Amino acid sequence: MSDGPIEWDAESYDEISGPQLSWGMEVLGRLELRGDETALDAGCGSGRVTEELAGRLSDGRVIAVDGSAAMIEKARERLGGRAEYLVADLAQLRIEQPVDLVFSTATFHWIPDHDRLFESLRSALRPGGRLVAQCGGEGNIREHAEAAAAVAALPEYEPYLGDAGELWNYAGPGLTEERLRRAGFAEASCWLEPRPVVPEDPLRFTMTATLGAHLARLPERLRRPFAQAVLDRSRAPITLEYVRLNIEARVSA
Ligand SMILES: C[S@@+](CC[C@H](N)C(=O)[O-])C[C@H]1O[C@@H](n2cnc3c(N)ncnc32)[C@H](O)[C@@H]1O
Repeated sequence: MSDGPIEWDAESYDEISGPQLSWGMEVLGRLELRGDETALDAGCGSGRVTEELAGRLSDGRVIAVDGSAAMIEKARERLGGRAEYLVADLAQLRIEQPVDLVFSTATFHWIPDHDRLFESLRSALRPGGRLVAQCGGEGNIREHAEAAAAVAALPEYEPYLGDAGELWNYAGPGLTEERLRRAGFAEASCWLEPRPVVPEDPLRFTMTATLGAHLARLPERLRRPFAQAVLDRSRAPITLEYVRLNIEARVSA
């Protein structure tokens, strides 16, 4: 996997991320809040879910963190003074005041080292603080991932992607609970949920939302052909079999 965050097409992500917004709303729906907490949105993207989180924290604060400067700009455009903003790698987070809640959706599977990620997030939480998150989990978009691996092995792509290894980190619930406890969380509960998606515009959707780490390694001229070749290996209508990993954990008080 890549070692650090990549840049995203924030304009396109903002437009095509209907599925991610609906999953984010589900996670927010099960989140109990008083309304005065300080929450960190870890991997806020263009801020669509962050905006909903901020709406639940009328007496609190939201710190929107993302590794992509373009995403942070888009989130700032959307939320203005309703949040604070930070461009940072979540695996190496340094914040001044510990927060009550780390919230995150559709992000952790982009980060290669979950031990390091969870240690970093735990150190951002106050005693008794919570981590409530969802990301791609074990088995996520399996056929699409197999197609991407097969296309990456073709001679025109292999020089750029041959040594890339796994570009997504789709962990299972048992291993994730183990890692959370190892990182110092006292309670940890994780579970998987299927959430299939039939994208309206599969090429735009996959180039923006699923294949970014592959495309970032390719020269511009090969990006669209790579994504198209991946899609050509799937039956129409293209269905991305998303599997979400839900994460709830708490630091001891
Ligand atoms: C699919 S978007 C999710 C955005 C938003 N949470 C949502 O649900 O729509 C994933 C986000 O994670 C960010 N990201 C990936 N790896 C990161 C890292 N190591 N540190 C910080 N942000 C990262 C990307 O820049 C991107 O904005």
